Amino acid sequence: MPASPRRFTPRERRGDLFPGPAWRVGSGDVKGHSARLEGLGTTIFAEMSALALQTGSVNLGQGFPDTDGPASVVEAVTHAMQHGRNQYAPGIGVPELREAVAAHQKRWYGLEVDPDTEVAVSTGATEAIAAALLGLVDPGDEVVALEPYYDSYVAVIQMAGGVRRGVTLRAPDFRLPVDELRAAITPRTTTILLNSPHNPTGAVMNRDELEAVAEVAIEHDLLVITDEVYEHLAYDDTQHIPISTLPGMAERTLTISSGGKTFSFTGWKVGWATGPASLVAAMVGAKQFMTYTSGAPFQPAIAQALELGDDYFDSLRARMESQRDLLCEGLEAIGFDVFVPEGGYFATTDIRPLGFDDGVEFCRMLPERAGVVAIPHQVFYDDKEAGRPLVRWAFSKKPEVLDEAVTRLGELRL
Ligand SMILES: Cc1ncc(COP(=O)(O)O)c(C=O)c1O
Repeated sequence: MPASPRRFTPRERRGDLFPGPAWRVGSGDVKGHSARLEGLGTTIFAEMSALALQTGSVNLGQGFPDTDGPASVVEAVTHAMQHGRNQYAPGIGVPELREAVAAHQKRWYGLEVDPDTEVAVSTGATEAIAAALLGLVDPGDEVVALEPYYDSYVAVIQMAGGVRRGVTLRAPDFRLPVDELRAAITPRTTTILLNSPHNPTGAVMNRDELEAVAEVAIEHDLLVITDEVYEHLAYDDTQHIPISTLPGMAERTLTISSGGKTFSFTGWKVGWATGPASLVAAMVGAKQFMTYTSGAPFQPAIAQALELGDDYFDSLRARMESQRDLLCEGLEAIGFDVFVPEGGYFATTDIRPLGFDDGVEFCRMLPERAGVVAIPHQVFYDDKEAGRPLVRWAFSKKPEVLDEAVTRLGELRL
């Protein structure tokens, strides 16, 4: 829901919604936070990561890999730093990265984008998503998004003054309910925000689903913003299809991705957006006043990474797929109902076979009782009931870490 301007209660002004010293302004004379942040709180990841530290738990909460990406790419950053690439990069990104992103879109999807006007670099996909929504959504515009939502979507739609309309992906297979998508469109809808492969469900939108979205977008003249950060992590026979490859979609789609998941450098925060020059320019229009420009020495290194051979991409996918299988089989043997993901970093389970029905309570007790951290789906939904019994587990971890987590969970007498 959009934030409605109103006066804050003294408790809110003190910052109680945002526990922690940074938000505690004490006297009440200074506002604790703006209406734009109302109800957003701190992310569940902060709470769960703190619990993981306190309890020495295996952290399958946050989605980052515990193995670094290629050493040659690390060397490329060092080289860039030692050879004067340390000052502001151009706002839209260094030419070699924009060219590498354009070449990547051509190589994997046959898409032609002009590296000078149809590609821009961002500080991770997160910034591109925020800048795209701030640059393209007006207050009161309705944005249709898939829930469970990646958490930044809720925040930035609200900060842009947009109104979020969720379309719920439901267990067990988390397919797109096309009728519900159609029903969510109103005369105020301007944008569809997609994410495939999807976090947290692991669903990868198939051609039928993408065609249905394209039909709706074209019929209602909507913009599509699509988050494809897991584009190289689609498993088994599943294929990632960018919606911009569908007829009539390239001209209305802004595609966002990043090097974090594809090259296992989530801390470098190198992302990008590709699409029609006008959409890229709108994204850059907002980005220039957020960060202006993104990490200079990381950009040539990610350009080099994008040019790695197919063997790199194949082995990344194979490794993640086997980690997925290891975790899913382990969780299933313990008794969870497991929804094996088609893509991404996360597996989802239903906890009800183990006698629980509330994921938040389950995840809060798990570090203490089992020494494992996971994330309740509920925090990603407006429709809390749809997410209540579901829990998300990251498998972007070494096999021995996943084994340890499964052993600990197995010893837990539930
Ligand atoms: C769906 C999705 N989008 C975006 C991001 C963030 O990407 P980046 O680290 O490049 O900002 C993540 C990270 O977990 C994600 O899962």
